[in-house]
Amino acid sequence: MTMTARTILTCLFVSAAALLPVVASVRTFAAGDDDHSATAEKQLREMTLDEKIGQMTQVDLKALKDLGDIAKYSLGSILCGGNSDPDDITAAGWAKAQDDCQGQALKTRLKIPLLFGVDAVHGHNNVDGAVIFPHNIGLGASRDPAVVEKAARITAREMIGTGIRWTFAPCVAVARNERWGRTYESFGERPELAAELGPAAVRGLQGDSLAAAESVLACVKHYVGDGGTTDGQDQGNTECDEKTLRQIHLPGYVAAIKQGAASIMPSYSSWNGKKLHGHKYLLTDLLKGELGFDGFLISDWAAIDQLGPDYKADIEQSINAGLDMVMIPNGPDKPNNYVEFVTKLKELVNEGKVPMSRIDDAVRRILKVKAKMNLADRRFSDPGLKAKVGSAEHREVARDCVRKTLVLLKNEKKVLPLSKSIKKLVVAGPAADDIGIQCGGWTIPWQGATGNVIHGGTTVLAALKEALGPGVEIVHSPDGSGATGADAAVVVIGERPYAEMFGDRRGDKDLSLPAEDLAALKKVREAGVPVATVVFSGRPVLLDPVIASSDAILAAWLPGTEGRGIADVLLGDYKPTAKLPHTWPLGMAQIPCNNEYNADVVLFRFGFGLTY
Ligand code: BGC
Ligand code: BGC
Repeated sequence: MTMTARTILTCLFVSAAALLPVVASVRTFAAGDDDHSATAEKQLREMTLDEKIGQMTQVDLKALKDLGDIAKYSLGSILCGGNSDPDDITAAGWAKAQDDCQGQALKTRLKIPLLFGVDAVHGHNNVDGAVIFPHNIGLGASRDPAVVEKAARITAREMIGTGIRWTFAPCVAVARNERWGRTYESFGERPELAAELGPAAVRGLQGDSLAAAESVLACVKHYVGDGGTTDGQDQGNTECDEKTLRQIHLPGYVAAIKQGAASIMPSYSSWNGKKLHGHKYLLTDLLKGELGFDGFLISDWAAIDQLGPDYKADIEQSINAGLDMVMIPNGPDKPNNYVEFVTKLKELVNEGKVPMSRIDDAVRRILKVKAKMNLADRRFSDPGLKAKVGSAEHREVARDCVRKTLVLLKNEKKVLPLSKSIKKLVVAGPAADDIGIQCGGWTIPWQGATGNVIHGGTTVLAALKEALGPGVEIVHSPDGSGATGADAAVVVIGERPYAEMFGDRRGDKDLSLPAEDLAALKKVREAGVPVATVVFSGRPVLLDPVIASSDAILAAWLPGTEGRGIADVLLGDYKPTAKLPHTWPLGMAQIPCNNEYNADVVLFRFGFGLTY
C-alpha cells in the first residue's frame, strides 16, 4: 500500500475523540505563578552568561570527570541514564548520589538547586528493592486512568524516598508498529489512550502542585511521532502529513500540557526526514506557541549530536529551534562533551548566532520550573522516607494495578479460574520463576535482564505457592517435563528483556517467542494436562504455536515485581477486566496493523478481552 493510501485509511479509522480539533490550550497556572516568574526573573538578572549556560547543561553522572565540575560549570542538572547508576543502587545509595550532587550546587555563587533526573518509567526502576509497576502497554490495557495515576503516585513516593524529583516519564508514544522495541513504553496504538492515560500519569507524578511534598517533575516524551516511524525503526523517520501527525501523535501532548506537564523531551526520530531536535516549527511554533507549553525542553541522550557532523552547528540549530536543556553523556575524554558544549554555546552567543533572548528564554523556563517545585527548600533527601521504597503498602497498590492489566485472550473448557482445591499443579516454563523476564527492560540495567535483577517482589510461581498453600502440590518445571498426572498446568513464557535499539525486530527478525519456551509448552501439552498459558511480552507476539497448545491464554505484558496480581486472576479472586491496547496480528505480514481496518482477519481485535 502506498503511504498516502495508508495514511487515508488510518485517518478514517482513528476514533471520533482523536478527530477533535487540536485547540491551543494555554495553561493558566494556579496561584503563585507570578511569584515563580518573579523569582526566575530576579535570578536571571543576577546571572552571568556562563551561569546561564550552566543551567542549560545536563551531564550524565558517569560522564562527570569530577563532582566539583558541577560547581565549576554551575551545572543545572545531572542525570543517571539507563546504565549510569551509582555504585550503590540501594535507596540509600541513590539518595547519597543525589545529595552529593546537590551539595556541589550549594557551592555555586547563586546556589541554584540542581535537578537530578532518572528514568523512573515503571516504578523507580533503577533502585534495588523498589516496586516495579507494569510497563505502559499493560496500563493501556487497563483503560483506567485511576490505575495509571496510582502507579505514578507510588513511583513519585519511591523517588522522594531517594531525594530524586525528576523522571523522564511518561512516554506518550502512540506505537503503530510492533516491530518497534519501545512498543511497551506506549499505552497503545490509539491516540485516545495517550490522551487519557498520559495526563493521568502526569497527575500522579506532579500531584496538584509541583511544590507538594510528594510531587516530582514529569517529562513527557518523546515529542513527537516516535511511535510512528517507518518499519517501526527506533530513532527512525515518521512519514506522514501534518494532519496525521496531529491526529495520531499529538493528542497525548495536548492533554499532558493541559495537565501541567512541566518538561518535555523531543524524540531522536525525524518527521519526514527532519530530526525533531532541530525542528523549530514543531518545538517552538507548535509546542511553545500554539499549545502554550511554558515548561522547558530537555534533549534526549546525545541526541543533538545526530543533527550533523559539526557539534557547534548542532548546538546552534537545536538551541535556536527551541531546546532549553541538553543531555550530555560525554566527559572531557570524548568528543561532544560537556566542556565543549558550554564553550561552544558561549562562542555562539558571542558571535551573535544564538541570540541572548533565546538563552534568557531557556533559562527563565528552567528556573521557573525549579521555583514551582520549591526545589531550593528541599534539595536533599529525607532519610525518613527511604523506608517507603519497596514497602508492603506500595506493593499492594502495584498488585492491584497488575490484575487490572491482564487480558484474557482464550479460555476454553473453563480452565480458568483454576480451582483452589486441586491436588497437583504444574507451574512450567522458563518465565515462571524469573522476576527479570516479568519486569522487562528498564529494570536495573538499561536493557533489563533475566533472573534476579531486583530484590523483593514475587514471581508467578512464588505467588501461586503463597496463594494455594501447602495443601496443593506444586511442581516447578522450567522445561515442561514431569507434567503427567497433574490436575492443571500454568505455563509461563515470554520475550526476553530488551529496551530501545536492541528491541527492534526488523527485517527477517520476527516476533516469535523463544524456542525453549515453546518447547516447554509443547511438552506440558503432550502430557495431556489442561493448560493455562501466561505470556510476558512488550507487544503482541506470534501466538500461533501458543494458541494450539493452550486452553487458556493470559496476555500479562510486562507486569513488574508483583506476581500476586497474576495469581489473583488465575485463581479467580479477580475477574479479568483489561482490553487489548493493540490489534493482535496473525503474523508478521500484517504488521503494521492498527485500528479495525482489517478486523476480519487479525488474530484479536483492538479492545478484545474475555472475562469469567
Ligand atoms: C532514551 C530516553 C531516556 C534517556 C535517558 C534515551 O536513550 O531515548 O527515553 O529518557 O535515554 O536515559
Ligand atoms: C544509557 C541510556 C541511553 C543509551 C543510548 C545507555 O548507556 O544508559 O540512557 O539511552 O546508552 O546509547
